[in-house]
Amino acid sequence: MSLQSVRGTQDLLPEAQAKHNMIVECARSISARFGFHEMSTPIFEFSEVFKRTLGEASDIVNKEMYTFKDRNGEELTLRPEGTAGIARAFISEGLSQKTPLKLYYAGPMFRYERPQKGRQRQFHQLGAELIGVASPYADVECLTLAFEILRGLKIEAQLEINSIGDPESRARYCESLVKYLTRHHTQLSADSQRRLGLNPLRILDSKDEGDRALLKNAPLISDYYNDTSREFLSTVTNSLQALGLKFHLNPFLVRGLDYYTHCVFEFKSSALGAQDALLSGGRYDQLIETMGGPATPGIGWAAGVERLALLSPLEGVKTRPVAVIPVHGSMEAEAFALCYRLRAAGLTCEIGFSGNLSKRMKRAAGQNSWAAVVVGPDEWARGEVQCKLLDSGEAKILRVEGLEKTLTDLRSDPPQ
Ligand code: HAM
Repeated sequence: MSLQSVRGTQDLLPEAQAKHNMIVECARSISARFGFHEMSTPIFEFSEVFKRTLGEASDIVNKEMYTFKDRNGEELTLRPEGTAGIARAFISEGLSQKTPLKLYYAGPMFRYERPQKGRQRQFHQLGAELIGVASPYADVECLTLAFEILRGLKIEAQLEINSIGDPESRARYCESLVKYLTRHHTQLSADSQRRLGLNPLRILDSKDEGDRALLKNAPLISDYYNDTSREFLSTVTNSLQALGLKFHLNPFLVRGLDYYTHCVFEFKSSALGAQDALLSGGRYDQLIETMGGPATPGIGWAAGVERLALLSPLEGVKTRPVAVIPVHGSMEAEAFALCYRLRAAGLTCEIGFSGNLSKRMKRAAGQNSWAAVVVGPDEWARGEVQCKLLDSGEAKILRVEGLEKTLTDLRSDPPQ
């Protein structure tokens, strides 16, 4: 039996888990402040949910999905992203009467990608979706939420925006792009040659140097916007400017999923290396209709929690405990009973399990306890315990009766 975790997966040990929780919690509380409500969809769906929405030609559908048949022969897929599941739930739960809907979510996603720094096969996303608002101000709402979460996590990232236009503008642009690239077909990388017939826009995103050189003289999408597309983008960018939020227009930014229209965006950080996208998303006005639901516009984004964790200087919060320490083995039962009582009253407590008194005191300091309550036979007989405040070193004798309140009051006395 191999004891290694599966390639591309990782254990979150307590410290990493605390940071992960802090990130999800920070995003959760800021999202709530913006009026986004949390929801969850299942971790697996019928494969069709992803195949029909993300694009048959997308990398995710082509080579990255964890697809399997269950015992009943149903073809299922571990979710590679959250938007398709939310759109499915929007339809199957009959949420169209409740628009505009502002949703926040967080949880694991699965993609069979080549693992590297910031890229796993099981990773976690937190995301936001605003469904049912066609106005570009919905895009601004989602982008300001993203800015605020990154600020809350003290992460510096650069926002890149592009508009891939509405379907009409995009169709005209694609025609012209394909014409240009077909003329230079033989100079294109094999990947881009394949994409030319399937999804030519994705070629804009190619990392191949030959492709990039060719693209320098390719037609630009901004020259093909109709009035609707142009006005949509300028409302978003003017609003960001008015709010003093910085961004960079990148005409080559296209996304790996097929459901986008109008604005697409990515917050990037060079500190991440090759996998520089930290938080990405865009508008998906046709997605819900494509899935068989009522025509409903949508816009949203998702961020990789592991990538946020690599960049945020903040640490997870761990409540400082009270250490309850029996002076020796004979007082263990009393110490356990006291610890149980204090915990029931809402105090975070650690019990000193073994070793002599000095070992247990050292461990209490190592656990970042703010107080050590030492249970000795003589004091206990008098209804008292010794208490050492570990930051100041101050020692006190405290009554066992009402100790919950005494400790709670001491804890709320500054400095903590
Ligand atoms: P995405 O760009 O595929 O978009 O993923 C969003 C974020 O998830 C990326 O920016 C990255 O931080 C993180 N991520 C993606 N793949 C991995 C991986 N293999 N390992 C670690 N982190 C990863 C979406 O998923 C869309 N659903 C976003 C969206 C929401 N668009 C509209 N609404």
